[in-house]
This record gives sequence, C-alpha cells and structure tokens, in this order.
Amino acid sequence: MKDRIRNSMLMEKIITAEEAAELIKDGMTVATSGFTPSGYPKAVPMALAKRVREKNENIKINLITGATVGDELDGELSRAGIINKRLPYQTNKSIQESINRGDMEFVDQHLSHVAQNINYNFIEKIDIGIIEAVEITEEGYIIPSTSVGISPTIAQKAERIIVEINTSQPLELKGIHDIFTLENPPHRKPIPIIHCSDRIGTEYIPLDKNKIAGIVITDIIDNTRPLSPVKDIHKRMAEILMEFLEFEIKKDRIPKELLPLQSGVGSIANAVLAGFLDSKYENLQFYTEVVQDSIIDLIDRGKVCCASTTAITPSPEYLKRIYENISEYKKRIILRPQEVSNNPEVIRRLGVIAMNTAIEVDIYGNVNSSNVLGGNMMNGIGGSGDFARNAYISIFFTESTRKNGNISTIVPMVSHHDHTEHDVDIIITEQGIADLRGLSPKERALRIIENCTHPDYKPQIKEYFSLALKRKGGMHIPILLDKALSWHYRLDIYETMKE
Ligand code: COA
Repeated sequence: MKDRIRNSMLMEKIITAEEAAELIKDGMTVATSGFTPSGYPKAVPMALAKRVREKNENIKINLITGATVGDELDGELSRAGIINKRLPYQTNKSIQESINRGDMEFVDQHLSHVAQNINYNFIEKIDIGIIEAVEITEEGYIIPSTSVGISPTIAQKAERIIVEINTSQPLELKGIHDIFTLENPPHRKPIPIIHCSDRIGTEYIPLDKNKIAGIVITDIIDNTRPLSPVKDIHKRMAEILMEFLEFEIKKDRIPKELLPLQSGVGSIANAVLAGFLDSKYENLQFYTEVVQDSIIDLIDRGKVCCASTTAITPSPEYLKRIYENISEYKKRIILRPQEVSNNPEVIRRLGVIAMNTAIEVDIYGNVNSSNVLGGNMMNGIGGSGDFARNAYISIFFTESTRKNGNISTIVPMVSHHDHTEHDVDIIITEQGIADLRGLSPKERALRIIENCTHPDYKPQIKEYFSLALKRKGGMHIPILLDKALSWHYRLDIYETMKE
C-alpha cells in the first residue's frame, strides 16, 4: 500500500467501508468523483446502502456527482431509498424509475456549470466528499483514476473527504490528468488552452490532508456499460457526416485536417465516430467530455493526435485493453476537470465541431435530448448544451423513428426543450441531412421535413405544416399548438411506451 499512500501518517487513516459509511448522516449533501461509470466511489456507497437496508434506517441525502456513475453508487443508493435530490446527470434505470415516479428530485444541469455552482455557493454546502484515487501523494494530494469530473472542486469545498483507493485502477494512470482550477469572478483569468493537447495544470488534485476523514481500500472495477452493436442506419448517418465534412472542406469552411471534434454519449455517438476509422482523416483532435470505444479504435489506428476529455468511458472489453496499454494511451489522452473540458470559452476558441444525439427534433430545429414524451427523464442534458451552444458547427443525430417505427423523432414541436433553434446547425438522420445555417424558421421546416423525416411520417408532418401555414398571423414560426401537442398523445404511442 506504500506505493498508493505515500504519506506514512495517512496510513493511520485507513478505515473500512462500513466505518466510512457511518460518517454519512441524514440530511447531508454528499458529492463524489465519477463521470460516466468511470472513477466513481464504489465500496462506501455499497456499505451505506447495506447498512440502511439491514437496519431499516430512514436517511436521505442529496447526491452530487460529475455526471453518470455506476450502479454501485446510483443504483444501490436509489434502491435503498436514500437519495432525496440528485444532480446533475444519470443513466441508471433505478434512478430513472425513482425520478419518473416522483420519489426523487432531479436537477438536470449543464455539466460545465456544476463545479462553479458549488464554488459560487449556488447549491448545497458539501458535507462529505468521496473521491476515488489511484494514489495519495506525500503531500496528501490526490491522483484521480479514470475520470476527473468535479473532484478538484469537491477537494476544495467539502467539509470532510473520504478517499477510496482503488487498486484495480492502474498506478500508471498517473500523468494522464491535467488539473486546472478556475478562480471565481472578478479574479477569473482566461483558460490558456489554444490547442487540444495543451497541458495547463498539475497531474494531481490539491487537497488539505487534514480534511481526510478516512481512506478506504477497494479493488472493485469500474462498472462500465457495453455499447449496442453498430446498426446499418448508424453507418448511413456516419456516411452522411463524412459527405458533409468533405463539402465543408471544399467550401473552405473547415481545414482539410478538420477542427477539434466533440462526440456525445451513447451508442449512436459511438457508432457515428466509427465512421472516421476508414476515412481519409488523420491526426484527429478531440475536445470532448467522454472517450468511448470508437476513439480508442481511432487511437489504435494511429488516427488521433490528441483526445482531451474528462472521462475514459469504454465498454468492459475496451477498459481491459486500455489498462493493458495505458502508457501508450497516456500519450494521446488528457483528463481535465469538467469545467475545463466543457468550458464555453475554450470550445468557442478551438472551433469545436460538436456532435450530439437527440431524442426528438422539431421542424424548426429545436432539440429535445433528455425527456421522452415531455416529462419522462431519460439521462439529462449532460454536456450537449455546453458544446452545442458554443461550437463552430453544432450537429445533432437521431434515428428518424424509434420504438420499431411507432414514433417519429421529427415532430411539429418538441415535447421538452434542451437546445433551441439558435444552437442547432445540422440535423442528420439515416434519411438525410438538413443544413439549417442561414435559414428562416419556415425554410428550416421545409428542409427538415424533406430531408430528415421517415417516409411513413412525411405525409402527416407535411399536412401539419401546410395547415399551420394557413393560420392568420404568427407566420414567423407557424405553430398550431393544439395539433402540435396532440402529436405526442396518439394512443398508439402510449401503447408502445408501456411495452
Ligand atoms: N421516443 C421514445 N424513446 C426514445 C426516443 C423517442 N423519440 N428517442 C430515443 N428513445 C429511447 C430509445 O428507444 C432507447 O430506449 P431503451 O433504453 O428503452 O432501449 C433510449 O432512448 C436510448 O436510445 P439509444 O438508441 O440507446 O441511443 P443512445 O445510447 O445513442 O442515447 C440519448 C441517445 C439521446 C438518450 C443520449 O445520447 C443522451 O442521453 N443524450 C443527452 C446527453 C448528451 O448528449 N450528452 C453528451 C454531451 S457530450
């Protein structure tokens, strides 16, 4: 353990997960490391859930993380009924059920805002922080594991810190991180990132070691999720993207080596990125918040010069591959705090090409990324707003239909609003592409209906649009509110959602 806890005095702080869990009391706000199911604490939350279940305790805490975490944290605590309020993002089925039943409050937040909202004291004071680490240095500083997320802010702002040293996380991760802390206004300075590969901070998270309330040793591995197999329609979307990029290069809008790419979470994002594998593009740069399997494949093919991110989010198979060759991946990947990886200032400066996935898109270009049929929370907005709003080109992908063709993802009016028409440049479905730049709302509607809508739904949506054009007034964005809303309330959609 001496190579993991380098300060001999801190060895005395080693406690069991059960003892650490005892520190967490009713009404507390707990903030943890973790972004996607990577680098989150596992042993302490599991011990807490077990205690609550066995003793039939009635405690509630607020839980703040960087983004998604694994089932050992989100799943265990929500099934034990411990979470009162959760923020800012999740992908766990148990949490989703609690949120959508109304048993848990959920704050869906731009991921670049979380750390600063804690720093500005806009959200609850953090009583306990739990940070997964590969090592604690002689000075008591933290070397994080597979994600950085909001850990530097937790280290600064939490009253007490529990460190989970995870021996399944290789020590060789040391050196992959770049920790840079932002001052609060009026003292905030520019973030000096000019190229994706710029390193501007330290390889450790500074921490006052006197705050460490306990160190727990664990070897539970990151519970990462497998991705769905690449579908033919996703391959088609990737082809459309490649044609679009080629067109943009010909028009001299982007250089032939492209601009830094951002790619969102999930199966579609991963599948679309796979399209770069057999492309002519070399020396790709990523300024993104997650590195999924496709980026690892692209690195292995020698196509990536740098991937700046806040988390490595591979499938279990790819996680093994990364661990086996960590020193090579370290040359290409930089892990930053999420307020830097998702920072609007840097995204705008670098001219990022943002690629995110929508749940539904309306004919005027508004995007819903988070709520099915208006109010059923899926995962959250995540970092999609940070990137879409500030990107050089903002692209959204969606399959043109869902639920075996029973739902059109192109709708008259989105049932929930995450990205407005002002932040969406390009929409790609397997049917085609709608380039919305420079178009008025009515022009956008014609293009989205024609190019992106599934043929089964085109007649209905065309009929809607031509009716809307007949109304008197309101011709800037012709909307028939009753008909636009009723689109989401067709009986057959309800039946599909129950399945
Ligand atoms: N109506 C009903 N259900 C829909 C739907 C719609 N219009 N669109 C998607 N879904 C459902 C799918 O059926 C699937 O349901 P299931 O889990 O029950 O099978 C689920 O959404 C996820 O779809 P999937 O095909 O697995 O796509 P994905 O893994 O690519 O995820 C999002 C798509 C939109 C859910 C995901 O990208 C997301 O959460 N985005 C918001 C956050 C974000 O963009 N973060 C990245 C910023 S860097």
